[in-house]
Amino acid sequence: MDMKILSIESSCDETSVAVTEGRTVLSNVVATQIAEHRIYGGVVPEIASRRHTEAISTVCDEALQQAGLGYKDIEAVAVTFAPGLIGALLVGVNFAKGLALSLGIPLIPVHHLRSHIAANYIAHDNLKPPFLCLVVSGGNSLIVEVCDYTDFRVIGGTRDDAAGECFDKTARTMGLPYPGGVALDKIATTPDFGRYPLPFPHVEGGEYDFSFSGLKTAVINLVHNALQKNEEIDVPVLAATVRKRVCDMLLENTFKAAEATSYRQIVLAGGVSGNSELRSRMEETCREKGFNLYYPPLCYCGDNAAMVGVQAYYEYLSGNIGDVSLNATATLPIDYRK
Ligand code: KG4
Repeated sequence: MDMKILSIESSCDETSVAVTEGRTVLSNVVATQIAEHRIYGGVVPEIASRRHTEAISTVCDEALQQAGLGYKDIEAVAVTFAPGLIGALLVGVNFAKGLALSLGIPLIPVHHLRSHIAANYIAHDNLKPPFLCLVVSGGNSLIVEVCDYTDFRVIGGTRDDAAGECFDKTARTMGLPYPGGVALDKIATTPDFGRYPLPFPHVEGGEYDFSFSGLKTAVINLVHNALQKNEEIDVPVLAATVRKRVCDMLLENTFKAAEATSYRQIVLAGGVSGNSELRSRMEETCREKGFNLYYPPLCYCGDNAAMVGVQAYYEYLSGNIGDVSLNATATLPIDYRK
């Protein structure tokens, strides 16, 4: 029987606690703050920290109750310690440290993007490293070689904005509610580059690198120009045009990297992996080119503690254990060494 891990996630605007056993999820409670941040059009870090503080004890009790367990049954505590909003991360880290110390059990620090990748292990029993992974979230866009469960090699990344940031900000400019990526994906119909010519930014010197800020600025300028001239924007068409352009960029680099390496498995991870066009085009191209594709079920694409617990299991097996000196870190590469 694998150890029972209680895991905590508070890196952005979701307070989540889960209980896992190896790759099996016994409970996963997510308290989202989306409705509150929507009023401001994006996450307000100070509000996020306060809401985490208010919610964390209740969410933790609920996760234990749903798993049918008590504190005495827990064998380790895991927590997202980096990267993320520093104040938000600190709430989870301090709660986890207190819990581990009082229960006298190990504390396992987990990197947020590693846990997004681990969301795939929950649903796909047969998935094992090595594989190539496209990690696309609100703050990061990476192409990573997952050599082993705790061994990562970054081969491509964004030079500026993340894909999620590009979706969120262009959606906001089009008047869509936060989180913009989700709303943009829902409303998008058919792209039209004749009507909305959008750039396809290429990055000099980084074969698998991305750049999304030029595209983001082009869309913002296009919408502002139209507003100034009193011209109407066809939001579903512009949304589809932006979505297609972002997916073009993600697919191009992912398959270039896949073909240059020997991996036969391609994995998607992070909030943007819930994008309907990204999934369907990835599926189609993987079928054509003979790759096996994996992505997490929608319920594990966004931030949640279950994926933290699953990655923590592998971190523990690799000896990556923390202590009371653990601190939160706002930025940290996925391939960091302890
Ligand atoms: O991974 P995540 O939940 O949080 C971070 O760790 O950053 O990702 C959130 C991002 C947001 O930018 C959100 O708009 C985007 O994922 N997102 C989507 C979709 N669902 C979530 N973007 C495009 N299409 C979607 N269906």
